[in-house]
Amino acid sequence: MKLRIALTKGRLEKDTVGLLEKMGYDCSAVHDKGRRLILPVGDNIEVVLAKAADVITYVENGVCDLGVVGKDTIIEMNGKFFELVDLGFGRCRFALAGKKGDRFYDGTHVRTIATKYPNVARNFFEKKNMDVDIVKIEGSVELAPLLGLSHAIVDIVETGTTLKENGLEVFEYICPISARLIANMVSMKLRQDEIESLISEIEKNIGQ
Ligand code: PRP
Repeated sequence: MKLRIALTKGRLEKDTVGLLEKMGYDCSAVHDKGRRLILPVGDNIEVVLAKAADVITYVENGVCDLGVVGKDTIIEMNGKFFELVDLGFGRCRFALAGKKGDRFYDGTHVRTIATKYPNVARNFFEKKNMDVDIVKIEGSVELAPLLGLSHAIVDIVETGTTLKENGLEVFEYICPISARLIANMVSMKLRQDEIESLISEIEKNIGQ
């Protein structure tokens, strides 16, 4: 049976395919995928293209042996799986941000925070003993403070361009993020040799 790896569609998918090619795997089917979602890589691997949170769901449930997903989604979802390798790409940071020049911490009013990551935001403010209202937003979170929906956002910052071009700035960095290889707990036992040899090939090719 092929080793099945769930890849987060988009930027991480491209970096993962680049890594697999560097490792010598034929990824031509992924390049010519059209609208197909399950694709062969070399003779022994099958990749599944999914949204980040679904990568975790498929790996947790054992329908995929391995997954490539951002640490942001791992922290937010907090699931039951093994986190095996920091792949080194997809590097960015979680940050608290808001309108440039706003004095976010001044005053005692309850702040409203917009985010795609409510658990990350809740934990961040719990550690500060700050009571906040959290509003879940699905994308382009930067809009929320601009439209007056929230005092600030907790979001991913990569280059900082989105913040800058929208008159926002980082108030505080929360933690670094990068792509991780994760494994289903049962697969890790039943297919240990295959997974371990893949990990050692990966480690040779990620320049750590
Ligand atoms: C992410 C994030 C920021 C942006 C940060 O959004 O939510 O909006 O990237 O990148 P930058 O610091 O390099 O500008 P994404 O592109 O994933 O889209 P989304 O907002 O629809 O989730």
